[in-house]
Amino acid sequence: MTDALEFFHEKKPWSRYKDGILDYYLEPYLAKVAKLRRPILIVDCFAGPGQFDDGEPGSPLIISKRLRSVQERGAQVLGFYIEKDPVLYERLDQNTRDLNIPMRVRQGDFRQYINEISELAHDCTVFIYLDPIKPSDLLFADMECIYCQLDRGRSVEALINFMSTGFWRAVCGLADRILVDNTLQHKHPLVCDWDAIAGGTYWQETVFSGQMSDPDRIELLAQGYAERLRQWFKWVIRYPVRDNYDDKFPKYHLTFGSRHSDAIELMNRAMVNARRTFVRACFIDGFLFPNQPAKEIIDPHEAERAVVRTSQTLGKAKWKDLRVRATIENPCTYTDSEFNSAIKRAIQKGDLVSDSSGRRIDENAWIWPPKRE
Ligand SMILES: C[S@@+](CC[C@H](N)C(=O)[O-])C[C@H]1O[C@@H](n2cnc3c(N)ncnc32)[C@H](O)[C@@H]1O
Repeated sequence: MTDALEFFHEKKPWSRYKDGILDYYLEPYLAKVAKLRRPILIVDCFAGPGQFDDGEPGSPLIISKRLRSVQERGAQVLGFYIEKDPVLYERLDQNTRDLNIPMRVRQGDFRQYINEISELAHDCTVFIYLDPIKPSDLLFADMECIYCQLDRGRSVEALINFMSTGFWRAVCGLADRILVDNTLQHKHPLVCDWDAIAGGTYWQETVFSGQMSDPDRIELLAQGYAERLRQWFKWVIRYPVRDNYDDKFPKYHLTFGSRHSDAIELMNRAMVNARRTFVRACFIDGFLFPNQPAKEIIDPHEAERAVVRTSQTLGKAKWKDLRVRATIENPCTYTDSEFNSAIKRAIQKGDLVSDSSGRRIDENAWIWPPKRE
């Protein structure tokens, strides 16, 4: 059985968190972009068969359900699903046949369809989902010509499964071929291949130099990948998906890029929800006394401290900008409405200064940190 066929035998718990984030995000995202009155295109480049052998829906079915519901409210939509494996493609074709939304289901390498997607992207609001099964399946620049449409004012967003741990394991496994006397051979063809996957050379130092724990190296790899994505997307956030809370290594980092701060706040909400669901399942549901780690306790005072800290580095800024920046600096931790409450309280207590009273949310109010004595 191939890796891909095996993968769809049953949905693994960590895949539920990944799908949960996708599903949770799509509902408010679609409601919002439907207002633009442009066709909405969702592309799933690594679609799989649409349904797992245990009956659980895969990403194309999750996407189609959300597209159908916004289509019923009058939006023009298109689902574009690509699967390379011929057996899985047949199943995908069957599983999507009666879904009653406009869609294109294609067999082959997603790179074959980039021109077709790019043409469609001219007139559409586009969401791209990239969920490879191994890190080498996706080169960093594969979708470049679609992301570049951002320069022409198009709305393009991408949710990418960056297989950080898989990346790290794979390149560590090459050490005896790419390191000579402990020196990395920068021009070695294998090194060049992994540069193309990572979108740069930052991984070389992260993996092979310095004194650092392996989990820190993996976190730094994910950070490097996110930073590279910022050449196209103004805002990028990521969420480490784990199997068990105490696992040293995440399965991967789900990484999202958008030009719109509203989209980042929606995705943050989806990631906060996934994190809290995970923590509930590990430490709260079925326990007489909740026993989650201190950093998982939702603490309104900590949210206040976070917005004050952000304000100190940001200086005078609009309410909304402060909230978005606090989100980027504390991703997957508090929702936008929790940050709003924190800002209100901080203004009322004098920990932040504003031209608003802080009694109600005013996204256009100016906020700044008090002068230090
Ligand atoms: C991790 S699975 C996707 C799971 C799917 N997103 C879901 O949640 O149901 C990756 C899939 O991508 C397919 N695949 C791998 N390389 C591909 C490529 N270059 N183009 C299209 N599909 C590819 C694999 O056969 C596999 O079915």
